[in-house]
Order: sequence, then structure tokens, then C-alpha cells
Amino acid sequence: MFETLQAMPADAILGLIAEHKEDPRPEKIDLGVGVYRNAAGETPVLDVVKEAERRLIDTEDSKAYLGTAGNAGFNAAMQKLTFADAGSEDRLLTVQTPGGSGSLRVAAGLIMRATDNATVWVSDPTWNNHVPLLGGAGLALKPYPYYDTTHHEIRAEAMLETLRALPRGDLVLLHACCHNPSGLDPTEDQWRQITEVVKERELVPFIDMAYQGFATDLDSDAFAVRHMADNVAEMIVSTSCSKNFGLYRERVGTLSFLARDHGTRAILASQASSLARTIYSMPPNHGAAVVSSILCDEPLRARWHEELDTMRDRLRDMRQMLHSALAVKAPDHDFSHLVRATGMFCFLGLTAGQVERLKKDSGVYMVDSSRINVAGITPGNVDYLADSIAAVL
Ligand SMILES: Cc1ncc(COP(=O)(O)O)c(C=O)c1O
Repeated sequence: MFETLQAMPADAILGLIAEHKEDPRPEKIDLGVGVYRNAAGETPVLDVVKEAERRLIDTEDSKAYLGTAGNAGFNAAMQKLTFADAGSEDRLLTVQTPGGSGSLRVAAGLIMRATDNATVWVSDPTWNNHVPLLGGAGLALKPYPYYDTTHHEIRAEAMLETLRALPRGDLVLLHACCHNPSGLDPTEDQWRQITEVVKERELVPFIDMAYQGFATDLDSDAFAVRHMADNVAEMIVSTSCSKNFGLYRERVGTLSFLARDHGTRAILASQASSLARTIYSMPPNHGAAVVSSILCDEPLRARWHEELDTMRDRLRDMRQMLHSALAVKAPDHDFSHLVRATGMFCFLGLTAGQVERLKKDSGVYMVDSSRINVAGITPGNVDYLADSIAAVL
């Protein structure tokens, strides 16, 4: 039976990681990978996570099934972290999912059950797994303008114009903060305008928040989610604890719905439950229990804020260091978008040929689009990186 199958094309990022691993040059740099790294190039377990895990081992008294919606304490704490006091509790539903990806997948299943003719509009460009993940689940996807690759700014007017022409009931997938891949987000004013159009056209916002706390702080980063929740009739929000809690492999995330009314909320709960049951049955508990114990214990929560601040500050510092180094080594080129971006990613603005030369000549690895993960930059490699970039310009 399986001889009928063809091998799938290799994943671009996994291929890049493998190539980087085999490169014998000691000065090589990996800017492709999608995880946070400290200045030593490691992705360590947060200290506060270690502490919560120790407590969990001492207190956990059962591994019995939790149910399709996961850990109730986690869901309540995450709903508060995501929405604070926005939206009405009566209409909000939050369930635990296996990571942000699991959340997007359940959301896709639910959209498919709710409507057979809606299109999900995604930013051009968007996270490279949005289209395979949501499209693979059967959703129709189309791009809206987002990033101006020449001037390295958001195409806010073109985006709004596209949204104004969409049919009622279509969905708009928005990145709450730290847009992946560009690192550039709408301003609060632009979010207000987007919300107005969404309301006017009766569109359904579908917000992906995978980097809460990585741009400015936990509350500012949730502005789009909270402003929409206070102003629209219904919305979908996916969150991930992979980055801000460093729990990547534990697969922790949430899926939230703001329903029109309490009755619809109950229907959504039963639909989400039945979808989870048919895909993975139940989400894993460990990471969710860790997050829940951090969010519900003031001293642990304060320690988490400190560690999150450290990660965010390091990303900001590396952007600034690379920008300053390039200002000296490539003074004729404008790299100001590096410091306007937030989070882990941004584009360098190089051609695929220049990206290839960086890899061949200097052992600097990034995806063809020249999207870089700034967590791959350290005070020790930033000068070499800037020299290598200047050499291919
Ligand atoms: C924009 C965006 N959404 C969702 C995810 C999924 O994260 P998770 O690892 O929690 O599935 C990512 C991960 O890189 C992402 O960048």
C-alpha cells in the first residue's frame, strides 16, 4: 500500500538546520531556527519552569484523563492573561490545546463546521506554517497586503482597502504582536482602524498570539486582542506558551472564542470538545499544569515576568547591536527596520542570491526570504555577521 506514496519535499528550515549542523566552520551562525536562544546559543528551561516542575512532582496525585478541554485552572488563568477584563466572561470560552499549532487546527475544524463558503484572509507574508496547517485542514485561504518589501513598512492602507472589500462573514487572520516573519505590527491607532473595518464589514477576527510578552510587555502586546474583544460580536484567538514560557516541546496553547451570546458559547464548547476528541482526544497536562502554577502564584509569576523581560531585552539589544554595526560597515544601506521590528524575527531585505552567498562564503544560515531569527545573534558574533552581510550587499 505505501509504495503509492511519494516523498514530501524537505522542510526548508529543517534542511537549513541540518546543513548548519554539518558546516565545520567554527564561526558559522544559525539565524534560521525558530526558537529563542540566550547569548550562549542555548534554549534553556526557564528557572521558574524548573521550580514549578519541582512543585508539580511533589503535589501531583493522579495521571488520570483530564478531558477534552484540558486543565481548567490553566484555561482560567490563560483567559485572564489573554483578555484581562476585555470581552464579556459570559461570552468567552478558553480551552487548552497542544500548542498554538493545535489551537489553529481545532479552530480550522470549527470554522469548517460553521460555514462552507468563508475564506480566511492571511497576511502577505505570514508564518510559513499558517497556509499548510489551515489550508491542509480544508480552509480556503487568500492573502491580504501586509509588508512592503522595498520600504520595510506595513502596507496599512492597502490592507484596510482589501478588508473593506471582503464579503460579510469572511475571517481575517491577524498576528497580535511580533508578526512572523516581518517583526512589524500595526500601531494601536491602526489596530483601532482595523477593528472598525472588521465591525463594519461583519468580518470575523482570528487572532494568532504566539509571542505575548516578546514585543513590549504582556499587556501592551495583547492590545489588539483586548480592543477587538471589547468591540466585535465574535472572534477567535489562538495563543501559544511555546515562546513566552519556553515550553516548546511540551505543546501548550489555548483556543478562545468570543461568542455572540452565552448560548452560542455553550455550543462552541461542545463543538471544540468533539473536534479535540476526533483529532488528539485530549491535550497533554504537564506544560499546562506548570503554566497554571506560575500564573496562579504571585512570587512565581513575578519571577516569570523577570525571565520574560530578559528574553525580550536580549532580542532588542541584538537588533540594536546589528543595526549599529551595519551603520558602520554598510553606511549606504538603510537597516532602520531592524530596530523598528520586535520579537524574534525580521527581514534583512536580501535577495535569495545574497542569502546563498552568505551561507557559502561565511557560514551564515537563514531562509531564502532573508528572514532572520535575531536570537541567533550574540555580542560575540555580531561584528562577524555585519561584516558578512556588508560583503554581499
Ligand atoms: C505566528 C505563529 N503562530 C503559531 C505558532 C505555533 O507555535 P506552537 O509551537 O505553540 O505550535 C508559531 C510558532 O512558531 C508562530 O510563529
